[in-house]
Formats: sequence, C-alpha cells, structure tokens
Amino acid sequence: MSSADATLAWRALVTAASEPYQRAGRFAWHFARGKLRWDPVFGHLIARGLIAPRTRVLDIGCGQGLLASLLAAAAQAARQGRWPSDWAAAPVEVRVSGIELRERDVARARDALGDGIDIVCADMRTAEFAAVDTVVILDVLHYVSIAEQDAVLARVRAALPTGGRLVMRIGDAAARPRFLASAWVDRLVNLSRGQGFGRFVGRPLAAWRARLAELGFAVTSEPMHAGTPFANVLLVATVEPGADTPAAGS
Ligand SMILES: C[S@@+](CC[C@H](N)C(=O)[O-])C[C@H]1O[C@@H](n2cnc3c(N)ncnc32)[C@H](O)[C@@H]1O
Repeated sequence: MSSADATLAWRALVTAASEPYQRAGRFAWHFARGKLRWDPVFGHLIARGLIAPRTRVLDIGCGQGLLASLLAAAAQAARQGRWPSDWAAAPVEVRVSGIELRERDVARARDALGDGIDIVCADMRTAEFAAVDTVVILDVLHYVSIAEQDAVLARVRAALPTGGRLVMRIGDAAARPRFLASAWVDRLVNLSRGQGFGRFVGRPLAAWRARLAELGFAVTSEPMHAGTPFANVLLVATVEPGADTPAAGS
C-alpha cells in the first residue's frame, strides 16, 4: 500500500475502531468517532509505531478503552494486508490492559469491547501496575497533585523493563495562554458531566522532562495539539540501560 493511501487507511481504522461503540450507545459511538478523528495523538501513535508489535501495554486513565479498540482494529487491518508502507510496524499481538476511575467509562468499554477486555475500575494512585512493556498515560496526570503524579511515575518506572517505554501526553504549563485554554476546556467538560470543577495540576515541559530523567528515562518530546488551542505535548520516555529501579514514592 502506498503512502497516498495512508489517509484512507486511517479513516478506515477510525471507522473500525469506533464501530464497536454502537453497542454502548449513541454518546459512546459519537465520542469515539470524534476523538479518533480530531485528536492527533491516536494517528501519531499508530503511524510512528509507538506501540510495538507483540508487547504488553498498560493504558492508565483509559476512558472508554479507545486505545484498545484502535489497536485491535489496526491489528486486523494489518492481517488483511491493509497497512500503509510508510507507517511503522503494525501493533499486532498486543495485549492491552486499562485502569479507569469512572465506572461509566468502564461500563462503556465493556459494552463495546466485551467482558473479556482487561480493564479495572480503579484509581491510578492506588491501583497495582502489572509488569508491561509500554505504559500509556494520555491527558490524565493533571487530575492529581504533583506529589501524586510523581508517585504514579515512580511506580510506572518500576513496572517497565530496560528499553520499556512510557508514552505520556501532558499540558505544558510554560505555554500560556494555551495551557490555560486546556485547563478551562477540561473544567467545562467535567462540569457538563456532573463531576464538579475538577483539578488541573500542571508543570512546565522542562520540569516533566527533568522528573522523567531523574527516574532513569531517556526522553523525547513533541507538540501534540495540532488543530486545537491546547498546549499538549507528547513525551516518549524510554528506560535507559543501567537505570536503577526507583523505590516507590521516590
Ligand atoms: C481526558 S480523559 C483521557 C482519556 C484517555 N486517556 C484518552 O486519551 O482518550 C482522562 C481520563 O482519566 C481518568 N482519570 C482521572 N483521574 C484518574 C485516576 N485517579 N485514576 C484513574 N483514571 C483517572 C478520567 O476518568 C478520564 O477517563
């Protein structure tokens, strides 16, 4: 398949990954389609191969399980030979588990993807993290305090082997007013869902990078907010050889 077909291939993936959410109701289906279409991070993860084939993935704050559905649709497309040549290796035989705080999202994930989906309704601050190859945390850590963010990150590091990867999107608090736009939109979404005003705890990109480096990660970052007014940045952090496993809470 040529690169000219990549756009068509991505559209087909969005359709296939959203389709199961019809079983979870109109909101879940429209939300899945909208999020996959308009949020640049999902296409980026797939085209760049940030989820490697034959790996175990933990998606923290997984919402209604969109990433799991997308990876399943991607594996199916690859098996059928529908994989653009300029995309990285397809995420075949990936095992995804998820942690999500909100019962309603967990129920939607199960309605859409079946009871066999490995998702627990739990708080990332206390949930156990199984040993995996890749941890994904997209737009989640800002809901907890800096100390709690650090404790989660230390436990993520402990769950990963050398060469393991953390893929995390954060808001860059140094990039005002974009960061403030993210905070207000997030608060309005929380309010509309009846969840109160919510918290939005950020730090500058340099501080995120420094914290991850202290934990023994080699870090790359790139803006991940195309088409939005936000200050979102994608961090890809890889456990360096020889990095000590930090004590939990350090
Ligand atoms: C902005 S949404 C992002 C969902 C998903 N990661 C994505 O990118 O589509 C943040 C998610 O994190 C969840 N969340 C917030 N605090 C959490 C916590 N303490 N433990 C687990 N999940 C949490 C929310 O319920 C919500 O589903």
